[in-house]
Amino acid sequence: MKSICVLPGDGIGPEVVGCATRVLERVTDQLELHTADIGRRAFDRSGKYLPADTFAAMEASDSCLFGAVTSDEGAGYNSPVLRFRKELKLFANLRPVKNIARISSAGMDLLIVRENTEGLYTMDEHEDDAGVTTRRRVSESACNKIVERAIHETRRTGRKSICCVHKANVLRKSDGLFLRVFRDNARTCEQDLEFTDQLVDSVAAKLVMEPDTFDVIVTLNLYGDILSDLAAGIVGGLGFAPSGNMGDKHSVFEPAHGSAPDIAGRGIANPTATILAAAMMLDHLGFSVEARQVRESTEQVYRSGLGTIDIGGALGSEKFTDSVLCNLESMS
Ligand code: NAI
Ligand code: MG
Repeated sequence: MKSICVLPGDGIGPEVVGCATRVLERVTDQLELHTADIGRRAFDRSGKYLPADTFAAMEASDSCLFGAVTSDEGAGYNSPVLRFRKELKLFANLRPVKNIARISSAGMDLLIVRENTEGLYTMDEHEDDAGVTTRRRVSESACNKIVERAIHETRRTGRKSICCVHKANVLRKSDGLFLRVFRDNARTCEQDLEFTDQLVDSVAAKLVMEPDTFDVIVTLNLYGDILSDLAAGIVGGLGFAPSGNMGDKHSVFEPAHGSAPDIAGRGIANPTATILAAAMMLDHLGFSVEARQVRESTEQVYRSGLGTIDIGGALGSEKFTDSVLCNLESMS
């Protein structure tokens, strides 16, 4: 048995996480799901967006499935997402993007490996009379860890080529360090993998114009955040982009999207990203057959010509999940 901490969160979080847990409960009886609060409900209960008992539950479980939280715009807000990424040492954010709904002819099947703990996401900002300075951190150890992880994931998923995405022409020292670490690692693996590098701005254009060019992208925190949403947009929107926050010990799987307050409570959110995040979690926990069944059942809904409301189809969150469960049934 594996224990899973389920964190529905805010907005559409509980809706899409509810769909994913229905799928998990159908595909295996080897998971023990227990729910913990994070975000607004946690704050109302305890005065904290990530209360100590929730953090302890995350730490104690084999993995976590998270929805999303709505950021509080008030001063002094400490993002619970940045906190658990940092404190659980979830240094790599894996974001696969695949054109499963055949939104366009794009044959995109890309894995973005994003550094998840530093860069511009340090919350280290200082005001003076003239404005605000934000400190951006790029450390050699974090660069090494993310590049090694990208190489590992490339081999594990049978992929072939890794592109390092950076801005070392301007950020010569920080991104320069990242690029040097990438090239040093590349030299030891050139017999079975292909290594290239490209500036982040031109990658943005190329992703739109030639989306099937990239296989694996390894990049720093902010670039990865933006490029993964851009890539998701090409294949139908944020409802299609799952992600896994990975550390050496802990892991948290979540859709790449936020809490989408504009559509919350209407039953129309696309649960695909969260269901695919649950499939990533199954893979990570060693349930690779079940992971493949979930992915296959999800893709099959789109292959059969049905679609979710965000891409002009008729299926709301629960109806889409019913179709996934129906496909799962016919597989076993
Ligand atoms: P968002 O990802 O919540 O929504 C952006 C757009 O995509 C909206 O129009 C939304 O309706 C649509 N969308 C997102 N997920 C969808 C789904 N599953 N199905 C159909 N449509 C979907 O980003 P936004 O609006 O910038 O942020 C909303 C809140 O979420 C903010 O408070 C933000 O800070 C927070 N956020 C939280 C994250 C997390 O908890 N990991 C990540 C990103 C944002
Ligand atoms: Mg984002």
